Amino acid sequence: MKTKFMKVLALAMGAALACFALSACGGGSSDNAADGDIKLVKEGTLTVITSADYPPFEYMDGDNIVGYDAAIITEVAKRLDLDVQISHMAFDSLITQVAGGAADVSISAMTIDDERLAEIDFTDSYYDSNLAVVVKTDSKIADLDGLKGVAIGAQSGTSGENWVKENVGDENYTPFQEMTEALSSLRTGKVEALVFDAPVAEQYVKTSYTDCKVLEVIPTGEQYGIAVNKENKALTEAINKALADMKADGTMDEIGKELVK
Ligand code: ARG
Repeated sequence: MKTKFMKVLALAMGAALACFALSACGGGSSDNAADGDIKLVKEGTLTVITSADYPPFEYMDGDNIVGYDAAIITEVAKRLDLDVQISHMAFDSLITQVAGGAADVSISAMTIDDERLAEIDFTDSYYDSNLAVVVKTDSKIADLDGLKGVAIGAQSGTSGENWVKENVGDENYTPFQEMTEALSSLRTGKVEALVFDAPVAEQYVKTSYTDCKVLEVIPTGEQYGIAVNKENKALTEAINKALADMKADGTMDEIGKELVK
């Protein structure tokens, strides 16, 4: 009798310990209670916005938004038992829209930075990145010093734009809403250089812009996070848990291997 009771007690204690360990992994607070507080624009659906001009992270395939970020957020939604709806929006309005509650999250190769953190929360980072300078293959610009006095562009509201303003100045700077517009302006000579994320630069010059090249990678050490409304801590926590699980079980690597070359 006594041993049976001890066994049951041991089992119960084990379960309690496991629960404690699990909730500790999930960010400290009780996951179940936090889950209950998740707010969604549309019930049962994770409403996502992105600027779908950024291969291999987000781009259009016919009417569909595909790429690494799309795959990541689709898998996250699945793990939260939600459908996913991803729509396109200009990059420089993504944060305002999430802060205003028009979308639940934005995943858009978005660099975690303090200025943005004043308006929205970021999940833990899911990708490391750098900037790059892209010029025409026949450009006379030899290095970063060669950017002084040259017409230069970046996507509006991005870290590339900040880099140009801080390191080259804004006298000869042109902001572009969409990357495709930026790249065609480089092609036609309206600007002579563009600054944007290195993995995206590598992808564009390898595929649709073979008349352009990466002049230099700038090791800015940026980290991408998913933007979430500040009033929705439970959603941030739930996404962090899903991301951690996806890192631990190899899903993240698999998606990366397939979609980021
Ligand atoms: N990583 C850069 C930033 O956060 C650029 C992101 C641009 N993303 C896009 N989907 N166009 O500022």
